[in-house]
Amino acid sequence: MKKQVKVGIIGCGTIADVYMTNITQHYGNLNLIWVADLYVEKAKEAAEKYGIAHAGTVEELLADSEVSIVLDLTIPAAHYSVNKQILEAGKHVYCEKPLAMKFSEAEELVHLASESGLCCVSAPDTFLGAGIQTVREVLDRNEIGKPIGFTANMTCAGHELWHPNPGFYYRNGGGPMFDMGPYYLTALAYLLGSIRRVSCFAEKGRPIRDILGKKVESEVPTTYTAILEFDCGAIGTMTMSFDTWKTGLPLLEIYGTEGSVEVPDPNNFGGKASIFDGVKLRETVAAVQDPFPAKLFTMMTAQEECHQDLPLTFPSDPDPRSNMRGLGVSDMAQALLDNRPTRLSMELSLHVVEALNALESSAKTGQVYTMRTRVEQTEPMNKEWALWEVQ
Ligand SMILES: NC(=O)c1ccc[n+]([C@@H]2O[C@H](COP(=O)([O-])OP(=O)(O)OC[C@H]3O[C@@H](n4cnc5c(N)ncnc54)[C@H](O)[C@@H]3O)[C@@H](O)[C@H]2O)c1
Repeated sequence: MKKQVKVGIIGCGTIADVYMTNITQHYGNLNLIWVADLYVEKAKEAAEKYGIAHAGTVEELLADSEVSIVLDLTIPAAHYSVNKQILEAGKHVYCEKPLAMKFSEAEELVHLASESGLCCVSAPDTFLGAGIQTVREVLDRNEIGKPIGFTANMTCAGHELWHPNPGFYYRNGGGPMFDMGPYYLTALAYLLGSIRRVSCFAEKGRPIRDILGKKVESEVPTTYTAILEFDCGAIGTMTMSFDTWKTGLPLLEIYGTEGSVEVPDPNNFGGKASIFDGVKLRETVAAVQDPFPAKLFTMMTAQEECHQDLPLTFPSDPDPRSNMRGLGVSDMAQALLDNRPTRLSMELSLHVVEALNALESSAKTGQVYTMRTRVEQTEPMNKEWALWEVQ
């Protein structure tokens, strides 16, 4: 029997189901003993469904000294106040994205946690999955040389096409950058390090949205296009859009001095990765003796043989969309048990909240924003995870 850390969940809404399933069925080092919600009935229903010992109010959950980590799965507008309450009760926080809406609030939370010797981090934890971890190894082995560029694109026609209650995506605090940006910014900062400067434009491409049959004007921009510069020297573009029906843009690619890597969807745990070997292309073209157009022709035809799929470096669920949410909580629990730093660090969560606010602010002011926070790259995921995490 593995050593376990006792956890509680605040917020028993849409996303809570997958956390409750994964914690009770897959993550053996977590023991879910409490669930709470503003609406106690929702907590009681969840407790019944998943066989959880206690259900009640937030205050009751926080008063239980047995609970060590609290998952905050409430709506983003409530994250700051709920996270603060959790920290003040002396418990570690694992929050759904983002840690807080405002940079100043996130700073306050991280400061409070550090002073109290507690952890306070936020999703996403998808970067701990086999997809992005495979790319991390490629970069660590220097297989594409020094990263010099990237492109990151999340484009869709809007969540109102599928979401049962999509209104909040178009109100203040919503929009594609705050909703989907955290996945891309977290993956990029984990792979490339600290963001140095950002610049952003934003528009309401389709301002009038069809929300459950009603025409509603979006309060927030629905397409953002940004340029980001990293301390490592890499520069790239990022587009987050609820206005785009179809594109051929990659989700995430990183370009290096010696090659390129296709990064799996940062919103998933597995997925498809591939690598382009620039050194091989250079050598293949150099070996051709005939001058133009033979070299040019070789350069074009040799592309395919220089490009190959990357096997994921540790076992992943065969369905790349499978939802392993909770991996970051499990890593946090193991870090507490082993007295080591968490792989999802407070600095990373804070850096992402600063970047989100920076992009929003640049889009409003037209100014380039220079980031204040920095992030240290944490350890790669332990490949043994499959043995102790997912059966
Ligand atoms: N729904 C998704 O597909 C999805 C995917 C990824 C991440 N997320 C993130 O998960 C979080 C929750 O999203 P959701 O879709 O589950 O929302 P939701 O509205 O379905 O559920 C939120 C729950 O929190 C409760 N709640 C709200 N404020 C509270 C408070 N102050 N105290 C206690 N309980 C409170 C609500 O009663 C509700 O049960 C958000 O941060 C969101 O960004 C959601």
